[in-house]
Amino acid sequence: MNGAGTYLATRDLAKRFGGIVATEQVSLDIAEGELRCIIGPNGAGKSTLFALLCGIHRPDSGRIFIKEQDVTSLPSFRRVRLGVGLTFQTNRAFHDLNVRQNLEVPMGATGSATHSRSARSEDRYRYALSVFGLDGLRETPARELPHHQLQWLEIAMVLSGGPDILLLDEPTAGMSPEETTQTARVLQHLNDDGLTIVVVEHDIAFVRQVAQRVTVLHQGSVFAEGSIDEITAHDDVRRIYLGQA
Ligand SMILES: Nc1ncnc2c1ncn2[C@@H]1O[C@H](COP(=O)(O)OP(=O)(O)OP(=O)(O)O)[C@@H](O)[C@H]1O
Ligand SMILES: [Mg+2]
Repeated sequence: MNGAGTYLATRDLAKRFGGIVATEQVSLDIAEGELRCIIGPNGAGKSTLFALLCGIHRPDSGRIFIKEQDVTSLPSFRRVRLGVGLTFQTNRAFHDLNVRQNLEVPMGATGSATHSRSARSEDRYRYALSVFGLDGLRETPARELPHHQLQWLEIAMVLSGGPDILLLDEPTAGMSPEETTQTARVLQHLNDDGLTIVVVEHDIAFVRQVAQRVTVLHQGSVFAEGSIDEITAHDDVRRIYLGQA
């Protein structure tokens, strides 16, 4: 079903909440090494799609594949073991733990005895700690970190598990333009290094900075797909999405 080099694919994913159709026939092909942004207006189905990819929601119909494997019915933790790194819109760092302890959590969760990061994952993780300024804060309680650094901590936590693909839901929510640019640079660097990344994002400035390929969701369906330049020049996309911004 999947073409060679496809890391993550969905076929006709549909999810309803009561009478509300949140996603409908969403088919995506994310290539290995790609950095894909998924955008769309409020209520387009972005977070629902994200939750389906993570295994938080089960689709009513449709399939999800990681590499060749059908993971539609696998829970989140099994997807994590297959190399999927997940972060969420709501920050999940443990505020009472310090930075070092937070960074140890994902290793524990995936079974540190059997799990070892590849040299490449190790480099990505070290890089993130350093550019996010977390290196010198290991003994600082997470609750003392400013908002943007908590977001960065969460990305570092995910990288500590050595994922092959990173799924991010609004990683720059609440960040200043400078912090957003810094986040974009880091994701760009990780992607240049070969990490596959899927970002659900509202902030078009961020998307401009990172995106190679953009998928626009509208009313639960894929409305358009293309480069950021194609997408921002697309009249109908401007009408449904950019016109609102
Ligand atoms: N748990 C839920 N129960 C009921 N309806 C839901 C639920 N989650 C999402 N919906 C509905 O599904 C549709 C898609 O919502 P979703 O949160 O996926 O959109 P979104 O693109 O992430 O929007 P936003 O930009 O506001 O975050 C909306 O109509 C929303 O009200
Ligand atoms: Mg959302």
